[in-house]
Amino acid sequence: MAETARRVITLDGPAGVGKTTLARRLAAELGLAYLDTGAMFRAVALALGEEAPAWPDERLAEACRAFSFALRGAGADTALLMNGRGIGPEVRSEQVGLMASNLATKPVVRAFLKSAQQTLGRSASLVVEGRDMGTAVFPDAACKFFLDAAPEERARRRVLQLTEQGQEADFEAILAQIRTRDEQDRNRAAAPLRPAADAILVDTTSLDIEGVFAELLRGVQTRCGERAEGA
Ligand code: C5P
Repeated sequence: MAETARRVITLDGPAGVGKTTLARRLAAELGLAYLDTGAMFRAVALALGEEAPAWPDERLAEACRAFSFALRGAGADTALLMNGRGIGPEVRSEQVGLMASNLATKPVVRAFLKSAQQTLGRSASLVVEGRDMGTAVFPDAACKFFLDAAPEERARRRVLQLTEQGQEADFEAILAQIRTRDEQDRNRAAAPLRPAADAILVDTTSLDIEGVFAELLRGVQTRCGERAEGA
């Protein structure tokens, strides 16, 4: 069965653009499951450790084969499991984000996770977020979005989010981390971050979350509605 046998909506974009909040909300609105593919890269990176990107390909491929993924539930409460256990807040730090970005440059890891993501896409209709969902993993998806925002705005939002969670946040340090990940994600040879030719582009720099969500809903209903319903 092709992955388009289910309804798939892709949200791609750089770190800190609001994909997670928006994808979860869109999934809740449409009654679809929600897949955070960044969490898959983060969980594998955390499990394998900082040295993993330097391993030979055979060792990396072998290590990846120890991981399996599943989705439970739908909407905002969809749970992503790795080896039967929920992937939790332990993967959310900036440090694990950078580890994930380093590991994500490795084609063997990307190939393994692409296959796992496509398998999940065959098991449920999804709103899926990541970097290469519309270009590499679900190129036939009915509905694709690419979100972007200036790095300074993304850093400002991240600082706000961390402060609200009672965590310390240094704007300049976070901006530097965002720039490092942008540089790596956009310029890597394997599935670099870029919009699919048929993606709807949304610049969120001067929009609040409600404004972006309204644009996504408009896109789903007008441009993607018919094809998505028919999937
Ligand atoms: O989206 P998130 O910030 O959680 O992703 C962590 C890292 O995983 C990204 O910086 C990116 O390098 C990598 N990633 C990727 N492809 C995806 C999802 C995430 O390369 N589909």
